[in-house]
Order: sequence, then structure tokens, then C-alpha cells
Amino acid sequence: MDLTTTYMGLKLRNPLVVGACPLSRDAAKVKELEDAGAAAVVMFSLFEEEIRHESLELDHYLNYGTNSFSEALDYFPEHESYAVGPGKYLEQIRKLKDSVDIPVIASLNGTTMGGWVEYGQQVEQAGADAIELNVYRLSTECGVSGSEIEQLHIDILTEVKKHVKVPVAMKLSPFFSSVAHMATQLSGAGADALVLFNRFYQPDIDLDKLEVFPNVLLSTPQALRLPLRWIAILHGQVKADLAASGGIHSHQDVLKMLLAGAQVATMASALLQRGAGHVRGVLAGMEAWLTEHEYESVAQMRGSMSHRSYANPGAFERANYIKALATFGT
Ligand SMILES: Cc1cc2nc3c(=O)[nH]c(=O)nc-3n(C[C@H](O)[C@H](O)[C@H](O)COP(=O)(O)O)c2cc1C
Repeated sequence: MDLTTTYMGLKLRNPLVVGACPLSRDAAKVKELEDAGAAAVVMFSLFEEEIRHESLELDHYLNYGTNSFSEALDYFPEHESYAVGPGKYLEQIRKLKDSVDIPVIASLNGTTMGGWVEYGQQVEQAGADAIELNVYRLSTECGVSGSEIEQLHIDILTEVKKHVKVPVAMKLSPFFSSVAHMATQLSGAGADALVLFNRFYQPDIDLDKLEVFPNVLLSTPQALRLPLRWIAILHGQVKADLAASGGIHSHQDVLKMLLAGAQVATMASALLQRGAGHVRGVLAGMEAWLTEHEYESVAQMRGSMSHRSYANPGAFERANYIKALATFGT
């Protein structure tokens, strides 16, 4: 069975990619993932705040705890270890490149123009095979319009693309008023791939301590429906490759994403929960399904259930929505 895939011009042995998460902090774990069959790894992010040496301010917010807690900080797994810093990040890229043969994709995470270009170049020099840009911007300012946020994404991408040779992916939020328009603009501005979607951290409230409770919940397979829909809609409409992120836990989930039109499916929560060995089972499950359904390659089935064949995908979406509601009897 031919599982090979290209993603942003990188040749991958299959479409299963380790998503950005703490697993890449440990080179031995990445080696285990490679041995189990993972085709590429997206590293945990280097945060703009680390680049800008704002650790003092960061400390303030981390210890302060509640009201002004910056949304992005929740990705730092433990307060003591958040400050990987740019130097250590570059060192980790080199370490991973020495340890594994699969492509290593660096992840830069920020909200403003600062630092992206310089560190884009540095991660490239350290050996990263590609860069994923995560513009983690939850706009809380009532005076900032959606179009300003969109322009920021385009400006950051354009600047980085001007200064690096490796391919660049944009990890997007699902909260644009027109995801399709944003995706088209970014693809037009040179994004080699769009990663759908970034997951915004959503804090809870601790009723005993009366504090905001900042933890990251691992995903469940229910999260899959959102990227599945958008990949099906965008497949064939944008030039950029599409990477699925969110709720992919099993081989069935990967297959659904491929049928919708994804080049690759990324996994973070499932691998954090089940370990590297899970990759083996997922790949075996995919092969068995493809064989049973008489496919010879993943390329053959990719996108066959996308919206490409519908003359009016919007009307199709609405009709299905109405049909789905009607299946609930009173
Ligand atoms: C513990 C944890 C840490 C994460 N760290 C990052 C990160 O550093 N950068 C990033 O872009 N996404 C990060 N993510 C988001 C994942 O890459 C992914 O987009 C999200 O978890 C949805 O995929 P999943 O359902 O496979 O977990 C993190 C997710 C988890 C669970």
C-alpha cells in the first residue's frame, strides 16, 4: 500500500504527523515516534514572549494567576519550564535533526510582527525543514476589527516568506468571519500549507478558590468535525496544502481527513495520552481499510469526499444542517 504523501513539498512516508505539543521536547520520544512510523514532527512552539525576553513580565502574569492571564501562556506546560528561550529552542532543533530522519517543522507562536523574521531565519539555519506560524491572537480589544487581525496574519506571513527558503505553514484559528476568504488570501500570499485549526485555550472557573483555572484539556474525537468540514470545503479551492488538526485519535479519523482532502493529519492529544506505539496501530488500521476498500494509495482517495463536486457548497451545507435537525424527533 502506497501511503506516501507530499506536504509543502516535503516527501513523507505517510500522512501521519505529530502535532505541536510537548512530545518534541524530548529527542528520545521523537525517535520512538519515528520508529513507530510517524512521518514528520511539528515542534512545540517558540513563543514571541520568549524571543522578546519578556520573562520578567511573564513571571508576573504566571504568578499573578487570574485576571490578566495572557491566553497564550497556557501552552507552557509547567511554569518552571516555560522559558525554553530562543537559544535552547535552536539547540533542540539541532538535537532532533541529529536524532531522526523525518522532517522537523519548527513552530513560531506570537501575535505581533516582532521577532518572526529573525527567528524564522534562525530556525531555518538550525536545520528546520519547514516553519509553522501560529498567530495566536485572541482579540479582546473592542476597537480592533476583524480585517485588522486578518491583515496582521497576511503581513506576518509575507515578511517571513520573504526571508526564509523553507516552506511555511499558517496554523489558523477557526474564528474568522470568512474562513474561506482568509484561507484564500493566505494561500495567495504564499502560505505553503494551512493547518486547520489552532485550538484556543479556554479557561474554567474554580468555584472553591474563585480563581480562573488555566489548564489545557486534551481533545476528544468530537473536535474532529470542525476541521473535517473546513478541509472538505477548502480542498481544491486553495493552492496551499491542508493539514488537519483537532480531534484526530484513530485511523478512522485520519482516513476521514484524507477523504475530505487533507494532505496530512496531525495528532497531539492522542499521542500524549497513548504514547508513540499508538502510531503503529493507526497506520496498520489505515492500511487495512485502504486494502479492504481496494485503494492502492492514499493519493487515490484524497479529497474524494470534499465539497469540490458540489456546484453550491453553501446551499449543500444549509440543506444538510436542516436535514440533521429534522432527524431529531419530538
Ligand atoms: C499539551 C499541549 C501542548 C500544545 N502546545 C502547542 C504549541 O506549543 N504550539 C502549537 O501551535 N500548538 C500546541 N498545541 C495544540 C496542538 O498542536 C493541536 O493543534 C491541538 O491540540 C489539537 O490537536 P489534537 O486534537 O490532536 O490534540 C498543544 C496541545 C496540547 C494538548
